[in-house]
Amino acid sequence: MNNELTNQIRSKCDIVDIIGERIPLVARGKNFFGVCPFHDDSNPSLCVSREKQIYTCFSCHATGNVFTFIMNYEHMDFKETLHYLGERVGVDVSSVRIAKRNTKFDPFYDAYQFSLKYFQNNLLSKAGHDARDYLASRGIDDQVIKEFEIGLSLDQGDDLTRLLTSKNYSFAVLNQIGLSSDNRDVYIDRIMFPLYDLTGKVVGFSGRIYRDNGLNKYLNTKETPIFKKGQLLYHYHVAREECRLKKSVIVMEGFMDVIRASTIGIRNTVALMGTALTHEQLQLIKRLSNQIILCLDGDDPGVHATLSIGDMLLEEGVEARVLVLPNPDDPDSFILKQGKDKFVNLLENAITFNDFKLRKLKENVDFRSDEETAKYINQVLLETTKVQDSIRVEIILKKLAKEFDLSYNTLEMRFRELEKPKPKEVPVVVTYQEKKKKTKYEKAMEQILYFMLNNDWVISLFEKERFVFPNEESRLLASEVVYYYTTYGHINIPDFYTYVQDKEEVVNFLNDILASDYVESTSRDELFEYFGVIREYSRTQEIKRLTNSLQKEIDPIEQARIAEKIRKLRIGDNKNGWRN
Ligand code: UTP
Ligand code: MN
Repeated sequence: MNNELTNQIRSKCDIVDIIGERIPLVARGKNFFGVCPFHDDSNPSLCVSREKQIYTCFSCHATGNVFTFIMNYEHMDFKETLHYLGERVGVDVSSVRIAKRNTKFDPFYDAYQFSLKYFQNNLLSKAGHDARDYLASRGIDDQVIKEFEIGLSLDQGDDLTRLLTSKNYSFAVLNQIGLSSDNRDVYIDRIMFPLYDLTGKVVGFSGRIYRDNGLNKYLNTKETPIFKKGQLLYHYHVAREECRLKKSVIVMEGFMDVIRASTIGIRNTVALMGTALTHEQLQLIKRLSNQIILCLDGDDPGVHATLSIGDMLLEEGVEARVLVLPNPDDPDSFILKQGKDKFVNLLENAITFNDFKLRKLKENVDFRSDEETAKYINQVLLETTKVQDSIRVEIILKKLAKEFDLSYNTLEMRFRELEKPKPKEVPVVVTYQEKKKKTKYEKAMEQILYFMLNNDWVISLFEKERFVFPNEESRLLASEVVYYYTTYGHINIPDFYTYVQDKEEVVNFLNDILASDYVESTSRDELFEYFGVIREYSRTQEIKRLTNSLQKEIDPIEQARIAEKIRKLRIGDNKNGWRN
């Protein structure tokens, strides 16, 4: 990969602009603060530095440069990020080839990719006859089967498990990733819908029965290291671009709904897949667009889900719209029966969430009863306190006054009583939560590394002194720093980030250091003091280690040799030529 080019793009982007377009930032001193999007929080613990061109969360320790921010926030891979940012700053990256990143999960993804192809072949084979008939009867044609990569699992019991074990997958791994269970296939004789992660990789399946066999309608992949249901939304990877174009996102209940909507050209959709909406999913939806249209099933559970998701969104300051389907249709059945135009018509007439809620409140109220009427009006007032726009509040109150022939003042007075005091603005207080307590020596080592990351001369001195850290992770990071410095002649944290981004342990450790409040610059004397502290530490560690092996040693000659080593270390540092 072309490092020069990435550095060029990086240096032309201002991280404060890029992050600021996505989350509100407030300037404090040299830095900018905002609510961290990478963990559940409402405090402004994300610190963005214009000077250093990096961000750091003091709470969850997310750290990185403009590339890692876009990758994590937009769920793009490195290549997509490079294209996205390159386009913005006018750097042509079309020629850049990027080697695929290797992760420890690659074998899992490969197993899923293999299973996907295998299921797809089954559906097209003779064994897929009935399943194809079923799909055709539901109006799912070859084009859709291809687009959504629909397949079929066979009724053999261990066909896929055998194939994968012959490709050197162990039973343990296959059980772990949810393709086998007790060393046999999980999915037997079901139509297989692949489930994708946010970047579009297949990470699970939902298998649907297609004959009346009394089994559960859908069988889903269990939670695995690569399939975390609460963090995914079906169709997200396609919706990302579509939502940008259409400037809205439509939320549905099932993936069949999403698939059906795509047959009429509506693809700015995601599906929840039968679970309660998690906070992470809520954030994902908000990220797709701020125009959110809830299009859940028209039956009672669907209405309930609409009310609860709409409320969750309101709490996040977003008022959704609701596409109201007749009971008991879901988008799939409605589109099949009524066609595209009717559905688009409902879409265009989607009502605000507040109107939806008021409509639901009104159902089943007996307006001949004063008591029920008053209760209803109070409920409406309570719900109206959640409306942000004061003009809309007045409109609602006026309508209500007219409808029930009440005085506006009475209603307004009650409304003010019900209004909750607005939360005070949260002051920017950054609390730094340390993961584990660091020892004095760990802190000293990290401080040295931080000096190195910020000062070229410290790296030179480190090299000249042939200083060696006593622990593996510091040695690893230091050697990367030295290598980077000797290659590029200058160290700079954001570019160094990009350089080490594939090395998970290095990045984790780097994040940890950057999230702590180390001092940036130092003097030569002070640096030598730090070196001294670490050398002293190494020396006592080495003495401990030797004393330990002395106790275990039974050979007297070897014992004497170790004892002599310990003695030399005890009398002191470098007189004996020992270096740490
Ligand atoms: P639905 O029951 O609404 O599915 O469940 P659907 O989209 O209408 O499917 P068809 O039309 O009967 O084929 C919505 C979602 O809930 C999950 C699935 O992810 C489905 O997409 N679900 C449903 C299950 O996981 N298991 C079930 O047994 C049923
Ligand atoms: Mn359905």
